[in-house]
Amino acid sequence: MLGIEHPIIMGGMAWIGLAELVAAVSNAGGMGIIGSVNFATGEELRQEIHKTRTLTDKPFGVNITLLPAVHESPYEEFVNVVVEEGVPVVETSGRPPEQYMERLKKANVKVIHKVGAVRHARSAERMGCDAVFTLGFEGAGHPMMEDVTMLNLLPRMVDAVKIPVIACGGIADARQFVAALAMGAEGVMMGTRFMLTKESSAHSNIKKALAEAKENDTMIIQRSIGTQTRVLRNKPAEKVLEMEGRGASLEELLTVISGELGRNAMLAGDVDGGVLGCGQGIGLMNEVPTVKEVIDNMVNEAAALLKDLCSRWPLPTTLGK
Ligand SMILES: Cc1cc2nc3c(=O)[nH]c(=O)nc-3n(C[C@H](O)[C@H](O)[C@H](O)COP(=O)(O)O)c2cc1C
Repeated sequence: MLGIEHPIIMGGMAWIGLAELVAAVSNAGGMGIIGSVNFATGEELRQEIHKTRTLTDKPFGVNITLLPAVHESPYEEFVNVVVEEGVPVVETSGRPPEQYMERLKKANVKVIHKVGAVRHARSAERMGCDAVFTLGFEGAGHPMMEDVTMLNLLPRMVDAVKIPVIACGGIADARQFVAALAMGAEGVMMGTRFMLTKESSAHSNIKKALAEAKENDTMIIQRSIGTQTRVLRNKPAEKVLEMEGRGASLEELLTVISGELGRNAMLAGDVDGGVLGCGQGIGLMNEVPTVKEVIDNMVNEAAALLKDLCSRWPLPTTLGK
């Protein structure tokens, strides 16, 4: 469907989902996705698409995040640019992409909506989406409030819809890749794993802190305002939780959760400078490899793992009798 070699996709990311990282993922045989939240106008997004095209001739996509925000993105402009530029794939997230479907489908754009609940996967299918990303509770970004982890969410979603389901959230290595395929996924999407690569523009201090962090070093904040998100357990994240506990207003919370603070912290390397999104998969990430190493290792180790599984656990001789 996507014309890529390996079923490994990089999720759209604020601050770091830019041309260099996107192209590195696509060049390594996966598919990179530009994060449109990084741009204030459609023209800025167009420039990034052009830049990405100078770095790769492989397919890549654009993420359009339809979430409530203090300054909402110019969604109409983004959709127009995607269509005009002939971008083959759009990842939508947050609100359903219903109002853009007709235009995107007419332009032959594959629309893959990111969902965290079976009912949302069904509605994406009804809307005409070509596939869904299943965001489990382990993941970075905005997992659903219902706290359902991938182990149960993914097979339920695979049973519920006919369109392809792509596993997303907490995935960091070949074992999880194989497990996702075994549960019926057509592929995997990763965010945090690609943030922790040589090509990512996250500051080296942030990469070091994440490489040292373990699976229990993340936390969910912003439940009180309905934009729950998984972040690194750092000082601002602890402060947000404390503020939410005493019923702080949105205005008050914004003094700590503002995207600007997070962006500065991510790019300047101040680990306690703002809230930093990441998934529980950080426990499995101890090094900062290249994107190609991430993808090659995942694919090669998955192949070895499948072979090993079959030899360790021969099929029962009673099978078929
Ligand atoms: C730093 C960061 C920024 C992100 N920004 C966005 C975003 O703007 N829109 C979106 O839909 N998802 C965003 N995500 C979520 C990713 O696209 C992806 O769904 C998620 O990272 C998968 O979980 P994982 O990080 O555990 O692999 C972000 C993730 C990270 C780590």
